[in-house]
Amino acid sequence: MTTLTINVNGVNRTVSVSDPSMPLLWVLRDLIGLTGTKYGCGIEVCGACTVLIDGQPEHSCVFDSSSAVGKKVVTIEGLSSDTSHPAQKAWIDHQVPQCGYCQSGMIMSCAGAMAAGHRGSEIQGELQNLCVCGTYQRIKEAVSTL
Ligand code: FES
Ligand code: FES
Repeated sequence: MTTLTINVNGVNRTVSVSDPSMPLLWVLRDLIGLTGTKYGCGIEVCGACTVLIDGQPEHSCVFDSSSAVGKKVVTIEGLSSDTSHPAQKAWIDHQVPQCGYCQSGMIMSCAGAMAAGHRGSEIQGELQNLCVCGTYQRIKEAVSTL
């Protein structure tokens, strides 16, 4: 076993992993219990697993947990304490989710783009996340307000 300490949502979390290359997604969901980040494809196609690592949107399904040591990881649970992040508010205002499965990854991708200083259609052009429910039109409307 390998012990790793990873800063998640502003708190240092120490976990034991059988393999330091264990995907960060498994650490977040299975070892820390933050299940807002979802598993979709596992091959960097869908974006359901998106979290911010040092402010950058990353696919946690392929991100080695050992590579997250010394970095700041933010999940949907840590984006705000009260759903007050502008992206979360826009998603609520526009009633974006259908089943909801893809949406935390969508919001984290959006939050990462916003943190990089991008707005509106710029963000839209960067969102590569997939939604099998097809909520793209409502996402577009929500993002256009940011
Ligand atoms: S689960 Fe990571 S990109 Fe699909
Ligand atoms: S809302 Fe269902 S997959 Fe996107």
